[in-house]
Amino acid sequence: MTTLSVSTSSAAGLRADALVVGVAKGPKGPVLAPGSETVAEAFDGTLADVLATLGAAGAEGEAVKVPAPAGLKAPLVLAVGLGEATEDGYALETLRRAAGVAARTLAGTKKAALLLPAESAAEVEAVALGALLGAYAFGTYKGENGKAPVGELIVASTRKGGKDAKAAVERAAAIGEEMNRARDLVNTAPNDLNPKSFATIAQAAGKEHGLKVEVLDEKALLKGGFGGILGVGVGSANPPRLVKVAYTHPKAKATLAFVGKGITYDSGGISLKPAGHNETMKCDMSGAAAVFAAVVAAKRLGLQVNVTAWLALAENMPSGSATRPGDVLRMYGGKTVEVLNTDAEGRLVLADAIVRAGEEKPDVIVDVATLTGAMVLALGTRTFGVMSNDDALRTRLHETAGAVGEQSWPMPLPADLRKGMTESTIADLANMGERMGGGLVAGLFLKEFVAEGIDWAHLDIAGPAFNEGGPFGYTPKGGTASAVRTLVRYAEDVAAGA
Ligand code: BES
Ligand code: MN
Ligand code: ZN
Repeated sequence: MTTLSVSTSSAAGLRADALVVGVAKGPKGPVLAPGSETVAEAFDGTLADVLATLGAAGAEGEAVKVPAPAGLKAPLVLAVGLGEATEDGYALETLRRAAGVAARTLAGTKKAALLLPAESAAEVEAVALGALLGAYAFGTYKGENGKAPVGELIVASTRKGGKDAKAAVERAAAIGEEMNRARDLVNTAPNDLNPKSFATIAQAAGKEHGLKVEVLDEKALLKGGFGGILGVGVGSANPPRLVKVAYTHPKAKATLAFVGKGITYDSGGISLKPAGHNETMKCDMSGAAAVFAAVVAAKRLGLQVNVTAWLALAENMPSGSATRPGDVLRMYGGKTVEVLNTDAEGRLVLADAIVRAGEEKPDVIVDVATLTGAMVLALGTRTFGVMSNDDALRTRLHETAGAVGEQSWPMPLPADLRKGMTESTIADLANMGERMGGGLVAGLFLKEFVAEGIDWAHLDIAGPAFNEGGPFGYTPKGGTASAVRTLVRYAEDVAAGA
């Protein structure tokens, strides 16, 4: 595992395998960013020219390696691009991404020191978090030829006093390590991660961090009348689970319920997905992984708020016992749903979990789900959609996401789209409606299950949850831990009384 620490020594005193500096686009070529001064001195002021000769422009995403001169206790200097040079500090997201590029580029080395512009505690945290996320590598199934992530990351800070710099790095570790755990869960092959093994992992983490974990197995789900979760899981040899992970604070300002879609594999069921649409469907539990990471992070940060994560876990498989298109399910709470397409399974497991979460009268319910391909068509692969029954909450979550560097966009829940789900069905609702606006139809379906008087929001992370392209910034290929930082920051803001 990668460790994080903070140092206030100058570059000359740092013993490492590589020193990382920032380089930005100046009017006449690359310019070195604050933090790099002592490294630049060791080059007798020639570093910017050396970088220019090597083709560096200072553009975001750029990484250029230079052998270090005598006088530094590291053999290598890595310059990472920060984009346009500025006099008044770099955006936190720019710092996170640059640190992420550095950590990824240095995979295979033992120890790296980052001398990026990190003056404020927020900047120190951004560099530390970006580096820890960028260092992530999923090695579970790789043999000897897999490159180990950087072993030790040192964030050099010019910040005097050092105490709040240390706290900033610890915050980054709490959030980054839980995000990396969520990525591991998403990347784990679906023959290893199923509802039962996921529940077992949640129980172990609960023990480790002192969280209360309750697991409903298939028998308990049957007894409790969880027709949605059971209906989705009934076709699989791996039975479903509903997991509750609770963090409580004695001086809590409010209670938040985070509900996650946890389909450990989505084959589509009897409405089977065609080849080409199922290879990445192990990622369909990303919402559950995100809410799980968020509640553990909330505990590690000691936030003054109660957070309950609900993981709705099932495997959606076709078989002789599977739910058929045409079946009617009796959901938790009593509503009936005609299943017209077994591939619209996420809303079925979420509906049960949302009703159950609502029984505990939280102040807010936020669900997180890789819910619809339609949302990916609408917003692309890096932006999640935010829907809500409350305009202020929708705006707030969109803005919170922006503040932590996650791309999101507010989406409507137009009442006219509800008709398609209720007409021409023998049940209260159908799990499909109009094809146009499919992401919003799914949101409207979930809204039906939110108890009167509770503010609810729905984050459709089908696009950003799983990166099928190459790595960028601090985002690796595969699981990304999308929405975790948004949930954690939202909980922090609520804890702070905002
Ligand atoms: N898990 C999928 C949605 C998805 C698509 C996630 C792409 C990640 C990437 C979901 O269960 C699904 O199959 N949705 C259907 C719904 C339709 C049948 C109404 C879809 O979006 O096509
Ligand atoms: Mn599906
Ligand atoms: Zn799905």
